[in-house]
Amino acid sequence: MEKVLYGKPVAHLVTEQIRVMLSGAIPIPSMAVIKVGHDPASEYYFNNIARQAGKLGIQVKLLENFQTVTTRELLLTIEQLNIDPAIHGIIIQKPLPGQIDEELISNKIDPNKDIDGINPINLGRLFISQKCFVPCTAAAVIEIIRYYGIETRGKHVVILGRSPVVAKPLAGLFLQKTETGNATVTICHSLTQNLPIITQNADILVAAIGKANFVQSGMIRPGAICLDVGINLIQDLNAGESYVGDIDYFSCLSKAGAISPVPGGIGSVTTSILLRNLCVAALDQHGQ
Ligand SMILES: NC(=O)c1ccc[n+]([C@@H]2O[C@H](COP(=O)([O-])OP(=O)(O)OC[C@H]3O[C@@H](n4cnc5c(N)ncnc54)[C@H](OP(=O)(O)O)[C@@H]3O)[C@@H](O)[C@H]2O)c1
Repeated sequence: MEKVLYGKPVAHLVTEQIRVMLSGAIPIPSMAVIKVGHDPASEYYFNNIARQAGKLGIQVKLLENFQTVTTRELLLTIEQLNIDPAIHGIIIQKPLPGQIDEELISNKIDPNKDIDGINPINLGRLFISQKCFVPCTAAAVIEIIRYYGIETRGKHVVILGRSPVVAKPLAGLFLQKTETGNATVTICHSLTQNLPIITQNADILVAAIGKANFVQSGMIRPGAICLDVGINLIQDLNAGESYVGDIDYFSCLSKAGAISPVPGGIGSVTTSILLRNLCVAALDQHGQ
């Protein structure tokens, strides 16, 4: 197995799967992106989606709302998109402003158009192994596992973080009775005690906490597979601004069995997964 688990070839493979889907008798997939206010990270993410979608002939409709938008107004927007037959997928860019009730918004998206997997119906289906839309970052981790042939069966997977968008769905996927599942899963969070003892026992360690270089080499066992979901902007006196993960790549590289880099790892697969979900939604909605 490769030592560095790059995301690019994985994204390329997912894109090829999309091309195959698009070559069939499928209507042109079309998604709506709801954006509220100006957040640099979510703008970067949107531009990435629009660029990749454009290359594939996929339509992306941007709905920009003012920072002052109310929950009720957003719910109405989603209601209209839910019944619009020309829209196959809906995503909401986060973070949402404080006045918005995120729970109501997630609940409102039609589960069949919920290509980001945030509706509780999709999350519930995931945990009982039913067909559903899986949150894209969690799916990206699993796609990397599959692509590089990482054995998960019977392995101890330790996940740092318990967010509903990444860590919890990922735990559900590792528990499924599939070729990328059947693992024993431990979830850790900010109140977990004796964290290094737990991480040192991990065959596969996933970090999704948003703390730059948190995992040091002393926290992993030799040969561990390290998967880094974190994306943290840091300031370096010499190098200026740069992005690093939650795992200290350079300290862990020689000790790990394999490690995903940041940038260039899991984050590079996420957009392709989103567009694949959109194609699946378009096919399903047209009964194919
Ligand atoms: N690669 C991608 O495509 C992608 C997508 C989404 C997010 N991300 C990145 O992934 C990271 C996590 O994001 P998220 O939205 O999943 O999580 P989040 O909502 O930011 O929550 C962070 C989680 O980390 C836990 N945590 C914080 N400090 C900890 C510590 N010292 N030890 C153990 N656990 C700790 C928190 O525990 P408590 O629950 O106890 O507070 C919480 O569950 C961020 O860097 C984000 O930018 C990347």
